[in-house]
Amino acid sequence: MCSSSVIYGRKVDLIAMLDTTVIQEFQRIVGTNHALQEEALTTSYTTDWTGRFKGASPMVLRPANTSQVSELVKVALSAGLSIVPQGGNTGLVGGSIPLHEEIVISTLRMDHCDPVDALAQQVTVDSGVTLAQAQTHVSPFDLEIGVDLAARDSCTIGGMIATNAGGINVVRYGPMRDQLLGIEAVLSDGSVISHLEGLEKDNTGYNFPGLLAGSEGTLAIITKARLRLHPRPSERCSAMIAFKTVDDAVVATSQLRRALPALQAVEVIFSEAMSLVSNHIGASVPVGAGSQAWLIVEVAANTDPTDELAHAIDDLGPLAVDVAVGLDTATRNGLWQYREKITEAIATQGTPHKLDVTLGASRLSEFVTEVPALISRVDGQATTVMFGHLGDGNVHVNILGAGGDEPNEGVDDVVLNYVAQLGGSISAEHGIGTAKREFLHLNRSEAELAAFRAIKKGLDPRGVLNPNVLIPPEYS
Ligand code: FAD
Ligand code: MLT
Ligand code: ZN
Repeated sequence: MCSSSVIYGRKVDLIAMLDTTVIQEFQRIVGTNHALQEEALTTSYTTDWTGRFKGASPMVLRPANTSQVSELVKVALSAGLSIVPQGGNTGLVGGSIPLHEEIVISTLRMDHCDPVDALAQQVTVDSGVTLAQAQTHVSPFDLEIGVDLAARDSCTIGGMIATNAGGINVVRYGPMRDQLLGIEAVLSDGSVISHLEGLEKDNTGYNFPGLLAGSEGTLAIITKARLRLHPRPSERCSAMIAFKTVDDAVVATSQLRRALPALQAVEVIFSEAMSLVSNHIGASVPVGAGSQAWLIVEVAANTDPTDELAHAIDDLGPLAVDVAVGLDTATRNGLWQYREKITEAIATQGTPHKLDVTLGASRLSEFVTEVPALISRVDGQATTVMFGHLGDGNVHVNILGAGGDEPNEGVDDVVLNYVAQLGGSISAEHGIGTAKREFLHLNRSEAELAAFRAIKKGLDPRGVLNPNVLIPPEYS
């Protein structure tokens, strides 16, 4: 059995890369059914969600538990192989794809949830548990996971930790790092660190959850996590508010954040994204057709927050052009569709470059207004589609090239340099992956990158774990 593949124009005999005894060892550990070699079986693990990143792997391994992960890592280490850890493969920066013929360790079989600890309001789950599974598991206790995002049916808790995922509720609960009370992970030599007691206060040295959140599979393979849970508010209300200008939407966001202690989400849709998504879902723009920006605001509390939201919107005065309110679940979901279906709508148009950035509040409207023109100068046929999490200053800049092809390579450079010039971050929530590795210096100093290198070398001296991700080559 032998598969071959084209990587960067080079035909490679992938299976021949692995020694027979190494293959047999891998098969012994996970079982032959979970040591995938045939290209037809590995393709979904070697191509990313957008189709932009396509790699190839001699073997995709699907361990069932932590000790199997540990054994696999030990074999890979002694055979001199590199590993790409993978969860749901919904990452948007190429970090989960074997672009350099690495083996893939997929966590999808590790999908056990421990019983909910209702007293502590915590739960321990395997890293391959999807967000939706975890949400369903805790929901009967009137508790919720602090991070929510549209990829919930596929993205895993391990992947969300590794990317420090953000999503729609950061304004209330913070990103994934803030949900972590403990972690279990396999280090690059196969040793296991496990600290899952879930103590709210625990100053016993270095904080591994904090370190591994956002490490993108470069420091360890996360196998379990102890998550903080939040009481689920029993009442909620959503509104879509239209604004004549981007600036008005930014000012309104600030006012709503002050006025609404029960604020759960403040999301934004800019004009190009609104026309695309309304066509995609086959519905008209709900309010304020022709506006420049729409906010979707959600408030959630144990007493009906509708009046509070209505007053806060009234107080926006002439800033708000028009408003649609969703009181019941069906209407609320109807409004949220316009936000949650944007990524899918863009994907129907082609292969975008997805630039996910944060700006300080005072630079947001300047950025959103100026950036399409900057992009046009580099690629006259590019379309720029923007939306995001305005409550966190997070704008998703999606750039499609002519006929849906990728845009000219230079667009990343011009956008990310502009972000840095305005004092923003080149990655708000998706991570650096392979897509933004060469731009990391825009946000991180020489001293910081040298410290990154020291941490990587300390924990993974042989470069076993995702060696081609996050840290720029000159610091690897
Ligand atoms: P993968 O894509 O499999 O991996 C992502 C990275 O984590 C890779 O570097 C990989 O090596 C590493 N990794 C995965 N599992 C492990 C592990 N167990 N141990 C160590 N490293 C690991 N992201 C947001 O932040 N906010 C959003 O609102 C959001 N919305 C999205 C909507 C859609 C429709 C899609 C497709 C994506 C969205 N994303 C969003 C991006 C993506 O869902 C997140 O980055 C998510 O956290 C990735 O989880 P995953 O399990 O799919 O990880
Ligand atoms: C979102 O907020 O919907 C995501 O981060 C996905 C994307 O950027 O397309
Ligand atoms: Zn997002």
